[in-house]
This record gives sequence, C-alpha cells and structure tokens, in this order.
Amino acid sequence: MFVCMCYGVTDKDIRHAVQNEGAGNIRELRKQLDLGSQCGKCIHMAQQIIDATIIDETLFHEVC
Ligand code: FES
Repeated sequence: MFVCMCYGVTDKDIRHAVQNEGAGNIRELRKQLDLGSQCGKCIHMAQQIIDATIIDETLFHEVC
C-alpha cells in the first residue's frame, strides 16, 4: 500500500528500511527514502509502520 502518495513510497519500502537499513525513526527513514517533505500527510502513518516493524522484530528475537 502507498504510504506517501507524493513520492510513491510504500509500506514495504518503509519496513525494508527499518529491517535492513536500521531506520528507527522518521529522521533516519528520511535519509533513505523521500517521504514527508511535500505535504507531510504520510508522517503519522510512516511512524506507525516503523513502530509496528520494530515491535515485530523484538517479538521475533524473543521467541528465538
Ligand atoms: S504523502 Fe508524503 S509528503 Fe505528501
């Protein structure tokens, strides 16, 4: 699904940046992806995806 319509950034792009590039917040994410600098409507959703991805990673590591 598209999170940032202005730059065509998807939820998959964001999860990839968190899991593989270590982005842990919006500032770090924006170093890798163009998002949020046009209208800014995507920032809240992008933060939720970052948080959910980090929580998923944490749960995965605790099980193993
Ligand atoms: S939707 Fe991301 S900057 Fe507009």
